[in-house]
Parts: sequence; structure tokens; C-alpha cells
Amino acid sequence: MSILEIKNLHATVETPEGTKEILKGVDLTIKGGETHAIMGPNGSGKSTLAYAIAGHPKYEITGGEVLLDGEDVLEMSVDERARAGLFLAMQYPVEVPGVTVSNFLRTAKTAIDGEAPSLRTWVKDVKGAMDDLKMDPVFAERNVNEGFSGGEKKRHEILQMQLLKPSIAVLDETDSGLDVDALRVVSEGVNRAKENTEVGIMLITHYTRILQYVKPDFVHVFVNGKIAEQGGPELAERLEAEGYDRFLVGA
Ligand SMILES: Nc1ncnc2c1ncn2[C@@H]1O[C@H](COP(=O)(O)OP(=O)(O)O)[C@@H](O)[C@H]1O
Ligand SMILES: [Mg+2]
Repeated sequence: MSILEIKNLHATVETPEGTKEILKGVDLTIKGGETHAIMGPNGSGKSTLAYAIAGHPKYEITGGEVLLDGEDVLEMSVDERARAGLFLAMQYPVEVPGVTVSNFLRTAKTAIDGEAPSLRTWVKDVKGAMDDLKMDPVFAERNVNEGFSGGEKKRHEILQMQLLKPSIAVLDETDSGLDVDALRVVSEGVNRAKENTEVGIMLITHYTRILQYVKPDFVHVFVNGKIAEQGGPELAERLEAEGYDRFLVGA
């Protein structure tokens, strides 16, 4: 079982106004099998945390540690992080013109496993996972995210997670822009991954809605670049009722 340890993480980004510190000492440990909801107001740094873990070049790590099973993640290249078992579903998935979903998935699977998947089981796995996510098979031949609706992009992210079987998955606002049917389909996908693997999940969300479908073990309130409070599922209920105002005063 895997363990992701984030210790006193600081990160900055270059803005037109100069260097800006976004992450201001994040401490968080996620073990395989656990689901951690990261909730917080817009602009608090949640996506920056996701990108910092994934290794986005725009964000400079200025302090702290990220360890996956004791290995220094910050020393790894982006693809080494993926091979080590980290997965990021982005808030705004990028278009990859000229690369079909089918090719993309197979290339990613091959890169992560270090060998090409057996064609017979792979075709069946992809088809099964797409069925599960109620994705039309024609999707496999479309270019990655090109012209995808918001809901299609999010399903495609979960499709990747289901096929790549990461040990730690960071899901950044996978619920945003989904209608209630799509939210259910996507949530069921996350729950299947939880049932079938030992994946540890960091579920970043602004709203409590998805937490009715994907049950968190821990809830962390993220404000102004760090975790301001943590608790169990009851904390999400409190946020639903009260909003983030209580945290923003003085932030
Ligand atoms: N690439 C960037 N360039 C400039 N500012 C950025 C960049 N990325 C993030 N920021 C700023 O960092 C803060 C946190 O952003 P973000 O991590 O996206 O927050 P959240 O996901 O919680 O809404 C915001 O004030 C945002 O404008
Ligand atoms: Mg965000």
C-alpha cells in the first residue's frame, strides 16, 4: 500500500507583478485506500497543490518535501512521477490535437507499465471501462479533449485513472461543470477504482455535492495556501451549511 507525504510544502509562481508565494506550508499524508477531500475557496491554491505534486514547470517548489513511499517526488521528472504511481486529473484538461484517445491511453499504459499491454485484454479493458463510464465507443477515435464537452473531459480523466491504476490519484475539481447524471457516472468511476484497487485519493473540490457520492475519510479545509482545519465527513457538512466565510476572516 502506498503513502504520499507532503511536508511543509511551499511553492511560488511568476506573475506579471512578480514572484508570488501560493503554497505556504502544506502538510498532508494520504495512504492507499484513503479518500481525502480538499475543500476551499477559489484562489486558495488547490490546483497549485495538484500541479506541484505532478511537477508542473510553472510552479517552483521553494521549501518542504513530497515523498511517495519514502521516495523524493520533487526529484523526479513528470513521467517518473507517473511511473511511480501518481496520477493527476486536471481541473482544465488540455487538448492534444492529432492524438486519439485510443492511442493516448495505450501509449500512457505502455509508458507507465514499462511494457505494452496485451492487445486482447487491453481492447476489452478499454471497452469495458468506457461502457462503465457511459462513453460512446466513437470517443476512442477522437482527438484527446478536442471539442470535448466539460463532462466528456471529466469522464476521460476517470477513464485514464481506471485504466492506469495509479497508487495515488489527485482529482482536481473532477465534479465541476457536471450535471447530476454525469456527476453520478464519474463518482461511480472513482468508487470502482476505490473498490478494485488500493488507490489513495486526493479529491479537490469547491462544493460538497460530489461528497454525497464519493465518501471522504478525511476533509481538509484549504485556505490561503495551506490547510486551515481538518476533520471527518462532518466538516464537509458544516462547510455546506456555513460556507468558507469563517475561514476567510483574517486570511
Ligand atoms: N500560472 C499562474 N500565474 C499567475 N498566477 C497564478 C498561476 N497559477 C495560480 N496563480 C494564482 O495563485 C492563486 C491560487 O490559484 P489556484 O491554485 O488555481 O487556486 P484554486 O485551485 O484553489 O482556485 C490564485 O491567486 C491564482 O491567480
Ligand atoms: Mg483550482
